[in-house]
Amino acid sequence: MGEASASEQDGEHTGGGVITTRALTKRYRGGQLAVDGLCLTVPAGSVFGFLGPNGSGKTTTIRMLMGLIEPTSGTAHVLGRPMPRSARAVLPHVGALIEGPALYGFLSGRDNLLRYDAADPTADPRTRRIRVLAALDRVGLTAAGGKKAKAYSLGMKQRLGLAAALLQPRRLLVLDEPTNGLDPQGMREIRTLVRELASDGTTVFLSSHLLDEIEQVCTHAAVMARGRLLTQGPVADLAAGARGRLVVTTPDPADAARLLKEQGVADVVADGERVTGEVPGRDLAEVNAALVTAGVRVRGFGVERASLEDAFVALTGEGFDVAG
Ligand SMILES: Nc1ncnc2c1ncn2[C@@H]1O[C@H](COP(=O)(O)OP(=O)(O)OP(=O)(O)O)[C@@H](O)[C@H]1O
Ligand SMILES: [Mg+2]
Repeated sequence: MGEASASEQDGEHTGGGVITTRALTKRYRGGQLAVDGLCLTVPAGSVFGFLGPNGSGKTTTIRMLMGLIEPTSGTAHVLGRPMPRSARAVLPHVGALIEGPALYGFLSGRDNLLRYDAADPTADPRTRRIRVLAALDRVGLTAAGGKKAKAYSLGMKQRLGLAAALLQPRRLLVLDEPTNGLDPQGMREIRTLVRELASDGTTVFLSSHLLDEIEQVCTHAAVMARGRLLTQGPVADLAAGARGRLVVTTPDPADAARLLKEQGVADVVADGERVTGEVPGRDLAEVNAALVTAGVRVRGFGVERASLEDAFVALTGEGFDVAG
């Protein structure tokens, strides 16, 4: 990384992030403003979830980070170096899986990886075969490694793309919707793999439109909507931003709802045997006692933790749907 100026190596532009963007903006030729003034900081060692509904600008951002397309304005630094200017120095340290990995259909999965590895000038040809077999094993493609890639299912292609990103140890992995096309078992395997990689010290940046997936695997997240960043930070903080709800399970929902309102609980909603409301600013033991004393048969009483989905709804005031 010889050509970096001292200030770049000091992280002056990067705030210590493995990925840092400042007012990053992309307007496509047709006029579509796909990414609008994005300021993102991905801490070293994090599993960072880049979350947003379809069309919110995730892939466009990732393409700019990887130097595949030029930003219209703003800057992106990856591993402390400006992109796309330092792509040649940065990309050997980054494993990437981007929407629809390019494969040679007439080659087997294994031969695709051998060929991909051979195109990497930093890859040692003597250990190529071993690394390819290890990568296939890591993504569960050992048995299917000899099959032609054109006969792969979507999930198998996705696994092969992931294997390509894993051929070398990397400082950063950038995975665009890595579980796209995978079945629930495959999704679990990828989550386990991501956790393993993170525990080896690799920073993982992954995009998803699935909230629960991000919640299960990520330490940090950023939420996008319509090209704009809504929020970013530790996942626990984002979920805590949306307050939990008081949930009472009872065969007497009407009585429970009336009593909860009397106890000062706001926004009471009864749905079957579930009665929910805002968490009141008083001792919940008293609220519970009041229900029981009034003869309400309480089967369950507690505060349900807010999910990222709740946080998203609280942030946008709308559901997690595609913008028109
Ligand atoms: N090459 C392109 N030319 C013009 N507009 C584009 C191009 N690629 C994407 N867009 C538009 O930019 C916006 C953001 O698209 P992008 O692919 O970045 O979203 P995404 O968050 O990755 O969505 P998904 O979850 O569906 O993968 C969309 O409105 C899309 O239609
Ligand atoms: Mg995308």
